[in-house]
Amino acid sequence: MSKNALDLAPAVQNFLDLSDAGGDAIAAMVSDAIDRKAARAGWPKGKADADKPLDGCVLAMIFEKSSTRTRVSFDIAMRQLGGSALILDSGTSQLGRGESIADTARVLSRMADAIMIRTDDHAKIEEMAKYAHVPVINGLTDRSHPCQIVADLLTMIEHKKPLPGLEVAWFGDGNNVLHSILEAAGLFKFNVRVATPKGYEPDAEFVEMARTGGAQVTLTQNAQAAAFGADVLVTDTWISMGQADATDKRAAMMPYQVNAGLMSAAKDDAIFLHCLPAHVGDEVSEDVFESAQSVVFDEAENRIHAQKSVLLWSMGLLG
Ligand code: CP
Ligand code: NVA
Repeated sequence: MSKNALDLAPAVQNFLDLSDAGGDAIAAMVSDAIDRKAARAGWPKGKADADKPLDGCVLAMIFEKSSTRTRVSFDIAMRQLGGSALILDSGTSQLGRGESIADTARVLSRMADAIMIRTDDHAKIEEMAKYAHVPVINGLTDRSHPCQIVADLLTMIEHKKPLPGLEVAWFGDGNNVLHSILEAAGLFKFNVRVATPKGYEPDAEFVEMARTGGAQVTLTQNAQAAAFGADVLVTDTWISMGQADATDKRAAMMPYQVNAGLMSAAKDDAIFLHCLPAHVGDEVSEDVFESAQSVVFDEAENRIHAQKSVLLWSMGLLG
């Protein structure tokens, strides 16, 4: 468990990507999430944890894209840690009328104890971090989605999938979520088989990061080969927020749908993950989405528990 709020460290620790924390700190986050989740089992969701480690702290959340899970999980996470959260969206804040990120960062640093931002261009979050003097947390950019992957690691471990050597198979678009999975693979030494159509591979930088960390990464256009003997099958929307909904992209993605055929090629006890929102019938078939192997709602709930650990680490109270 974390230290007390009274010991609040002045250190600002931004969480723009998983490597900002590193493997040891992320392992500590997952461990703390498991402990805190167990300690409050059955409690009302808005009741604070016994130790209220962020008593009185405020999180400012900026959304330049839609969200359900990230928005609700950070809000509930702050309540459970004894603090509170508020939302700025681009439509109703001055950011949407052209106020600079630099000024927004400096103002919010005077009014809040941490900032979470969901935006498009990753450079914006780097700019926010440059000018803020409170922790800045990446709630998704076009490049990466690290908070999601802390929840995914927690979900894999809960479902008895120890990370080193695990065979994780990704199907579909080589997007922001996959980038953070690849980053995690390098930190925790699990292997990733990436099955995408030609032209939709992940950025080479993330493949290199995983390999440098000791993970095996296979890039293939053969979905069946990627699924063969896999422990974890993962997919995501074919059309991410901000992307054009193109008929040719959908057609290219169709062979990568996670369906019963792919699941049967995986290990018998394989699990299916999806960060949600899902487009059932596109990237995943209904029978797989609704099957016992699908743990997507555990994964969604774990966003709360993971966010709490990310917040505590960013505030210098963990790891
Ligand atoms: N998985 C995820 O980030 O969901 P939201 O877009 O609803 O926040
Ligand atoms: N890749 C998706 C993830 C949504 C949580 C997107 O960026 O829209």
